[in-house]
Amino acid sequence: MRVLSDIASLRRAVAAAGPLCLVPTMGNLHEGHLSLVRLARRHARAVAVSIFVNRLQFLPGEDFDRYPRTFEHDCRLLEAEGVELLFAPDESVLYPVPQTYFVKPPPLAEELEGRFRPGFFHGVATVVLKLLNCVQPAAAVFGKKDYQQLMIVRGMARQFDLPVEIVAGETVREADGLAMSSRNAYLSAAQRAEAPRLQRTLREVASGRLSSQAAAAALAGAGWQPDYVEVRRRDGLAPPQPHDRELVVLAAARLGATRLIDNLEF
Ligand code: PAF
Repeated sequence: MRVLSDIASLRRAVAAAGPLCLVPTMGNLHEGHLSLVRLARRHARAVAVSIFVNRLQFLPGEDFDRYPRTFEHDCRLLEAEGVELLFAPDESVLYPVPQTYFVKPPPLAEELEGRFRPGFFHGVATVVLKLLNCVQPAAAVFGKKDYQQLMIVRGMARQFDLPVEIVAGETVREADGLAMSSRNAYLSAAQRAEAPRLQRTLREVASGRLSSQAAAAALAGAGWQPDYVEVRRRDGLAPPQPHDRELVVLAAARLGATRLIDNLEF
């Protein structure tokens, strides 16, 4: 695996590698990321992964400084997956001057996650556009765990005519149903035992046993602080119409200081 930290050598390596599929990450890799890497392998002969903790998508007071950085461990995992290129730039490479040009995502970016993390999708869309420009992959994989992010990136690629196929990867779960996430490491043992309730609650909504409101109340009753539980259309995340069949229920809730998100298509 070639590890590149500057854009000029990345571009040379990309030119030599041929068509690539990119998996953008913020590192601290787990089985969820590795499933995206394996999916990427099915979309191009060569796989590139980026590791970059993007300050632009963290609000003041969020976990940018303590976000787990496990570069050596990540490299070993990616080597074992046979990844060809790893792009791991410093902030000074991706943001050599303060970023003053931003992607302004559509109003969807102010809903759901955007309502509770204002500016988050501006930061995500801006860095994803930069990463796609640097790596110029034929395809890029984004996990459904971050469903709204996937929709916003897909819309950006369409509306800016980016020559990249956006591929969706399924969420990987622990045996008890908890969606894999780097932030699960913040949970205490008691919170970790409680955390699968989020997925169980989404299943109740998907099966019609609970309304979104009742689901949020059930989480609150179990000691969570829910930000939202909402049913949306899968494609584009508009509010559902009565006869819609392709739906997704999305939720974010805090367990102590840790904010977890999850979703379920139904
Ligand atoms: O999903 C993530 O890990 C990040 O939001 C991404 C897409 C790598 C952009 O920083």
